[in-house]
Amino acid sequence: MRDYREFLAEILIPEDRLQARVQELGAAISRDFAGKDLMLVCILRGGVMFLADLMRVLSVPHTVDFMAVSSYGAGVRSTTGQVRISLDLTTSIEGRNVLIVEDIIDSGFTLASVLELLSARRPHSLQVCTLLDKAERRETEVPIAYCGFVIPNKFVFGYGLDLDEYYRNLPFVGVVQPEKFFAP
Ligand code: IMP
Ligand code: MG
Repeated sequence: MRDYREFLAEILIPEDRLQARVQELGAAISRDFAGKDLMLVCILRGGVMFLADLMRVLSVPHTVDFMAVSSYGAGVRSTTGQVRISLDLTTSIEGRNVLIVEDIIDSGFTLASVLELLSARRPHSLQVCTLLDKAERRETEVPIAYCGFVIPNKFVFGYGLDLDEYYRNLPFVGVVQPEKFFAP
């Protein structure tokens, strides 16, 4: 795989701003869940960087579990709105206060499906914490309790988000130059 600098258009959110915002979100969640039971459900794979940093700044006891869903095939566009559960949780969410930790909400189809599926398992509460929100791309309404950044309609990568599965490790969120990355 190529060096990301070949197709990086701009750094949208640098590392220090990401970390500062994660601190703020962690403080808000810690306040809201003080004295309550909390379970974080991370949506793989994009949510892992955010989850790992968020967990470290939470001051309330909590458990974590993981699930994987896919709405995107080889390309980058959600076409049908169909979401496939490729890895399910291994613990019960019944009666728990569940906070879904997601990297980005685009059309909203992924999260809408996950919310529908999980609410059927009778959690005590079910909320969403997303690092990024491409609000102008929304096609189905999803409630967001905690949001890191509302971003413009650009394809981004880094800090958990991938380009064909690579570059998730980058500590910042960058914008891709599509004509440079997707050109044959
Ligand atoms: P939605 O179902 O359209 O909301 O898509 C959400 C999922 O699409 C996210 O969990 C990401 O995996 C992926 N996605 C959407 N936009 C981007 C992007 O700009 N970069 C990387 N992945 C993205
Ligand atoms: Mg994702």
